[in-house]
Amino acid sequence: MAGKTKVMKPDASSISRGASLIKKGEVVAFPTETVYGLGANALDANAVRKIFLLKGRPADNPIIVHVSSIAMLQKIAKVDARALTLAKKCWPGPLTIIFEKKGIMPANVTCGLPTVAVRMPANKAALALIRESGVPIAAPSANISGRPSPTSAMHVLEDFDGKIPLILDGGHTKIGVESTVLSLAGTPRILRLGGFSYEKLKKLIPNLEIAGHPKKIGGPALSPGTKYRHYAPSVPLMLVEKKEFGTFASKLKAGERRVLFFGPNFPKKTIAQLAGQFEYFLYFKDGENAARRLFDELRDSEKKYDRIYFCEIEERGAGRAVMERVRRAAGK
Ligand code: TXA
Ligand code: MG
Repeated sequence: MAGKTKVMKPDASSISRGASLIKKGEVVAFPTETVYGLGANALDANAVRKIFLLKGRPADNPIIVHVSSIAMLQKIAKVDARALTLAKKCWPGPLTIIFEKKGIMPANVTCGLPTVAVRMPANKAALALIRESGVPIAAPSANISGRPSPTSAMHVLEDFDGKIPLILDGGHTKIGVESTVLSLAGTPRILRLGGFSYEKLKKLIPNLEIAGHPKKIGGPALSPGTKYRHYAPSVPLMLVEKKEFGTFASKLKAGERRVLFFGPNFPKKTIAQLAGQFEYFLYFKDGENAARRLFDELRDSEKKYDRIYFCEIEERGAGRAVMERVRRAAGK
């Protein structure tokens, strides 16, 4: 693409500009309730190819397709009664469901898999863009592969300025981590923890499981994307486990600019002792708050500090998705 990237608030005219770009086979960034997406017409293999090139995305990592209606879902996927009931209950929302795909889907969206991942985002601008484009929109998170996902238009601009024609700026995203990816083949399994909490989904699907990390179970990655190092800031991210809370400070190096991220489970008196050792302390009041701010704070901190220390938070609700991302970003 030649020329400048336009950043526009979503309104009738910017949505219509976005939709006509999508119809022409261009790539447009847009907000969802989870993170920003880098969207293209899911039915146009050439447009989808641009997404892979822009992101530097591995060719074996399939893309989530976004729809604005159940009718649109049924054009691209085979939907059985159980999945349909679930989609109707949970959509629009941060839940991606894996379906058997229909022949209309180009092979590169799904990387040759017989399945397609689909969700209906709970964001007015996203839904309007899909509706007005008249086609399902394939969209991974709008970051260069491996970088923290974007939760604001500014983050998208950081990674793609001058490379895409339009970013719809819907402000900071509500949830801050990506959608939960669910497979209903065999035992229902979460392939990627995300914005739709395990606890909430378990109430709808009593026999729900969480897929183990591919390295631990030794099999192939279930959600191909989960095997890659992800979400990493440009400076080292150190995970401080709960058992190290009282001891890790004694091992810190001198002459390093550091920030400490911590939650309510971190002992307050230790904070006072660490005062001289960190330039900044960043407090997450619960898992939801950590999810909302995680990627933003990582992108901000990489500019200011040499190292980021993240003290383990409780793995409950959104805290699960946060810890999964922190482990991956820390290379664990
Ligand atoms: O919240 C989100 O999900 C955001 C917004 C933009 O919707 N999108 C997003 O996309 O996070 P991405 O590409 O960053 O992550 C998609 C994940 C990857 O782990 C990918 O491997 C998995 O979904 N996935 C996509 N299609 C799949 C399929 N057919 N079977 C299994 N996993 C699939
Ligand atoms: Mg991503």
